[in-house]
Parts: sequence; structure tokens; C-alpha cells
Amino acid sequence: MRRYAQIIGWGRSLPNHILTNDDLERIVDTSDEWIRTRTGIRQRHIATDPRETTATLAIKAAQEALRVADVPASKVDMVIVSTSSPEHIFPSTASLVQDGLGAVHAGAFDLSAACSGFVYALSVAHGLIAGGLAEYVLVIGSETLSRFVDWSDRSTCVLFGDGAGAVLVAASEVPGGVLSSVLGSDGSGGDLLIIPAGGSKLPASLETVASGQHYVKMDGRGVFRFATRIMASAAQEAVERAGLSMDDIELLIPHQANRRIIESAMKQLGLAEDRVLIDLDRYGNTSTASIPIALCDAIEEGRVKQHDHLLMVGFGGGLTWAAAVVEWSVPLPLPSTSWWRIAQHSGAFHMAQVRSFGRRALRRLYNVTVGEQEDDNQPSRTVFGRGLRRLRSRLSSGRSSGQQPPKEP
Ligand code: COA
Repeated sequence: MRRYAQIIGWGRSLPNHILTNDDLERIVDTSDEWIRTRTGIRQRHIATDPRETTATLAIKAAQEALRVADVPASKVDMVIVSTSSPEHIFPSTASLVQDGLGAVHAGAFDLSAACSGFVYALSVAHGLIAGGLAEYVLVIGSETLSRFVDWSDRSTCVLFGDGAGAVLVAASEVPGGVLSSVLGSDGSGGDLLIIPAGGSKLPASLETVASGQHYVKMDGRGVFRFATRIMASAAQEAVERAGLSMDDIELLIPHQANRRIIESAMKQLGLAEDRVLIDLDRYGNTSTASIPIALCDAIEEGRVKQHDHLLMVGFGGGLTWAAAVVEWSVPLPLPSTSWWRIAQHSGAFHMAQVRSFGRRALRRLYNVTVGEQEDDNQPSRTVFGRGLRRLRSRLSSGRSSGQQPPKEP
């Protein structure tokens, strides 16, 4: 029986703080008029609270997606976080998100494909599901690029915003869901959009920090030329691979980088504005989060109906591009969820925090009290030591207690 990958849950999360173009006028030599006419952006959300990070935004968006789907986090098989502003080089942001959600049976990894990353991750989820390796995959795009932007560089700081969007993709026998995808890369253009330092090529040092090499550097015109060329062709290819024509597409959900880039794609594809979702005026360029955030907006605005064909298309650093066609299968609007289910979900999310805190505390306690000095071949002399050893073996076996058997294709 063929397995389809259906989007059954969705959510987004945006930092509270809004930075308008007028605010930016007070930071750099720019104007509301320049930003609006050259990009279409009016404001963006910025994570000014240090407790708000790529992982916390991702967790909130994913919790919303799980709530909408009414699926517990324990059922998720894989968490994919697409991001260019991860919490650390390692551990992966996805592992932190998996822990924060209490997705105790899930694998987790980050996906780095810049602004195309969400569509890349959606395509990976499709593959995992179609191949029988997963039933539920959380696909999350999350960014706090404001922390990698040089706030004295007017050519980049006016463009980006922070936020996260998530979808829960589920295996289904109902035809539809992800119908096709196109993924592309041209690394020869890697220097057009880059954070030069902080990786293994140019590790962070006093010099890299002093010269601002840990900030986003962009050749705006170069990226613009690439984007206007690639968006329409990737979109067209994805539609053809789905066995459809552009007339079958009810809604284009493009990466929200620049209104002029989107308009150029619309023109090339012959799509009028009522078939295109544009929300970058409110959020700026949230990189890989822009498409799932826009999907949530489209649903909220009543622009998605059951059996609609949605065309998602992204482009960005790498250079990368990605497009996918999704046949929407969930009837909308959703019936309202009972207060009891909402309470159950928030109870489970609180328990995940307690569980995470408990596991960290136990690890620390074990290291302090017994730790490395203990020879595993010798029996512990005290009841406390034996108890801790048992706990340690449970901790080190990690998720094995709840591990699901591999699924046959
Ligand atoms: N405010 C005011 N003036 C600005 C400015 C700002 N924020 N940023 C640049 N300028 C100035 C430039 O210095 C330049 O001045 P000059 O002619 O005196 O040298 C002038 O505006 C034109 O600059 P230019 O870079 O040619 O503008 P543009 O029309 O190409 O628009 C971008 C710049 C960045 C908006 C546009 O190139 C773009 O959107 N590129 C794609 C970027 C992108 O999408 N990146 C993310 C990919 S996922």
C-alpha cells in the first residue's frame, strides 16, 4: 500500500518585540520609504529577550503543531529543525527541541540549507514516511538571525526577522500530501550570502570578532539576480513533477525575502496576487521559517481549503533552492478542540520540562557523587551508590526503554 505524507498540524511562534522601519531609522542611515519600496518590509519581530532562542521559538511552534494535530509528542519519530542560526555548532538545535517537547521516541537532527531549508526538510520527511521509516515527523524552520546581523550594516539589518514555523507530517493511506519536490544547490555562489567566521575554516578569534566576520555578509544584487531566475524555474519543475499545471495551483507560498523577487516569480509563472501569499511586510525575511509561518497565515486567513494544491518555493544561501507541491487534505476550518484536550497537551508539555530538568539534575548529581571514580566492575558499597548506578544505566540507555521497533517498508 502506498504511503502518503500529509501535513496534519501546523504552528508558528514569533518573538513579542516588533521593530518597525521607523525604529530602524534611529539605528542606521535608512528610511521607511527606502525599505518599503526596495523590499516590501514594514516591520519584523526580533528576539530581544535572551531567553528567547532558536530552540525556544521552535518548541513553541512545534507544540502548536502537535496541539492542532492532537498528537502527543511521544508519537513523533523524527524532529528535523531547519535553521541557519542554531543554538550551537553542536548539540543540534533539534535535539534540544526533542527534549523540550518530550518527544522521547524521536531521533533529531538539524538541516542546514539556509532559506530553502524548510522545503528541504519537508522533502526529507516525505522520504522517511514514504520509505516506511517514520509515522510522524516534525518539520520545523526556526531562526534568530537578528543575533548574526551587523546592526550597523544597513544593507542587511533591515531585511531579517526572527520566528519559527512548524508542521507535523504524518503517514497516511489517503492520497495527497507532499506530491513532489525539487531540491537544488550551486555551491559556487556560496560567498554571495555567508557568515564567514565561527566555523572550522575560520574559527572564532579576537581578529574575526574585531573584523565582524561572524556577521551575515551579503551581495544583495547577486542574490537578487539568482532569486529572480531560480524561483520560477524551480516552482515550474515541482508542478510538472506533480503531474499538474500552474492552473491547478490554488496558492503559491514563496519564501518571503523581497516583494520584488516574489512579484517577478508571479509574473513569470502567470499567477495573480490572489493566488500568492505575501506576509513579509509584517515579519521581514525570517529565512527558513518564512514558508511555514506564511502557511499558518494562509490557513488563518481562510486561503487554504481541502484538496487545494499549494506550491512552496524557497531559495537562499548555499546557494540553494527548493520547491514542493502539497495537496492539502485536512478539512478547514478545524473544529474547535475541547478544553480537556488543550489541558492535556499543556500538561504533557509541562511534564516534558519537568522530565528534562530531572534528567539534567540526576546526571549532575551522579557525576558529583559517584562519577568517573566508580569502577563499574566493582559492586557499589552503599545503597545510595547502587541506586545512582541503576539511575545512570537508565540514563545512559536513554530512549531505549521506549524505542519503537524499526518499521518495515
Ligand atoms: N537604506 C537606504 N539605502 C540603502 C540601504 C538601506 N537600508 N541599503 C542599501 N542602500 C543603498 C546602497 O548603499 C546603494 O546606494 P548607492 O547607490 O549610493 O551606492 C543604494 O541603496 C542601492 O543599493 P542596492 O544594493 O543596489 O539596492 P537594491 O535595489 O539592489 O536593493 C536589496 C538591495 C538588498 C534590498 C536587494 O538587493 C535584495 O533584496 N537582494 C536580495 C537579498 C535577499 O533576498 N537576501 C536573502 C536571501 S534568502
